[in-house]
Amino acid sequence: MNNKIIIINGPNLNLLGEREQSQYGDITFDELRENCMKKSKELGLETEFIQSNVEGELVNLIQNSRKKYNGMIINAAAFTHTSVAIRDALEVFKKPIIELHISNIYKREEFRHKSLISDIVTGGIFGLGINGYILAIISMQKILKNEN
Ligand code: DQA
Repeated sequence: MNNKIIIINGPNLNLLGEREQSQYGDITFDELRENCMKKSKELGLETEFIQSNVEGELVNLIQNSRKKYNGMIINAAAFTHTSVAIRDALEVFKKPIIELHISNIYKREEFRHKSLISDIVTGGIFGLGINGYILAIISMQKILKNEN
């Protein structure tokens, strides 16, 4: 079945609900995970939801994902703007990838305007808050369904 996806969250997203609520809202990371798992189940997706603060762990995770998952949703957080290693790992995945940001990175500091991964992913969502995760899950389900 073409229904296994992974949602990868980068550094500091474990502190959702506590950090910069004006940018990221007040929902906690655990609540976000619950919402994503619920929506995935509704849509028949088998979803893994993961967070790490460590760049190398994320690289390993992305590498190992290529044999296990049909699609990936990634909020690489601050590594979006800095990590060539994460970009290179994503290039090996070769299946649909959705880049996600809770905040509108283009409305914020200039160093956030550059994403090192936007040009290699399938598509992206930014600035729609936590709802972006739900929209990404719905979009990924449609992409995978059309691939069957
Ligand atoms: C973020 C935006 C990044 O610039 C920031 O470093 C994050 C979160 C977002 O979801 O809006 O940690 O990816």
